[in-house]
Amino acid sequence: MTLEQARETEDSISHGRFQRSLLGWFDRHKRDLPWRRDRDPYRVWLSEIMLQQTRVAAVTNHYERFLQRFPSVERLAAAREASVLAAWSGLGYYRRARMLHAAAKKIVKEHGGKFPGSVEGLRALPGIGRYTAAAIASIAFGQLVAVVDGNVERVLQRVHGKKIAGEALWRAAGELLSQLRPGDFNQAVMELGATLCLPRQPRCLLCPVSDLCATRGELQGQIEARSQIKRHIHYTLACRNGSIFLVQRSKTVALMPGMWELPEASVNETAEEWLTVRHSITVTDYVVRVLRGTAPRYLNGRWVRKSRVTALPLTGLARKILRAAKII
Ligand code: ADE
Repeated sequence: MTLEQARETEDSISHGRFQRSLLGWFDRHKRDLPWRRDRDPYRVWLSEIMLQQTRVAAVTNHYERFLQRFPSVERLAAAREASVLAAWSGLGYYRRARMLHAAAKKIVKEHGGKFPGSVEGLRALPGIGRYTAAAIASIAFGQLVAVVDGNVERVLQRVHGKKIAGEALWRAAGELLSQLRPGDFNQAVMELGATLCLPRQPRCLLCPVSDLCATRGELQGQIEARSQIKRHIHYTLACRNGSIFLVQRSKTVALMPGMWELPEASVNETAEEWLTVRHSITVTDYVVRVLRGTAPRYLNGRWVRKSRVTALPLTGLARKILRAAKII
């Protein structure tokens, strides 16, 4: 067996153990929520839309009432918008209710009242993004697609012991997904994040997968602190006759094109330090030293009157420095 094959076998064994332990726990401990009583796509869809930006406790109160008023997608599609919004009241974010209504009309008109069963079909409906399409496809239709929301992100980062973001998160979720019970597995990961793998005080002693977790009890903040990179950077702040010297970023760079900032100073420049600010961008913590300077020879720079500075599009860091220096 090659090392690669051995790794794959080991991986699938631990994935299998992870899935069994988590699903076993979910079967025993899952919250008895009204949308978990069957797999009707209309009910699953409604719950997922309601759960966006609204806590479970608030949703449970409204969910049954909304279903009594609109028991099927046909009834929802036929309703007047004012009655849909009235039934939604208390849940906030009324745009979600309007999208729900528009999607119901589309399902009735274009799909004969039957929900599309694929992720692509679902995503073509108003108000259904990547998460919601994956949730409905897996929970209502048993499709092999993983979901990623804030809870899933935290659980995966702790399990793997590192920061994972963007597409890599969806990949990590997909790799761990149970092939046998994808909908329950997705809900189980979210449930773990909502009830045990909490942001601040994870309850690892009760966690069914703590022996398979790379972090085991370490706080999220600590993972982040460990993966933060520290960098030092120097800028020059030059003042003359009520003006300061600023440079414009190239219009062709990907990051903040055309915006204005202070000129960067070379580290070994011997100039008086004006002030220090701290600035964090994603995984990097910058210590920014601002040096008192004279007019740097920058082709793309110019002297700007202090009163005109705020009229320019400044980078966030430039704004922070100029505020700290009490210039703006
Ligand atoms: N959050 C959003 N949808 C959920 C679900 N179906 N189960 C657990 N948590 C959720």
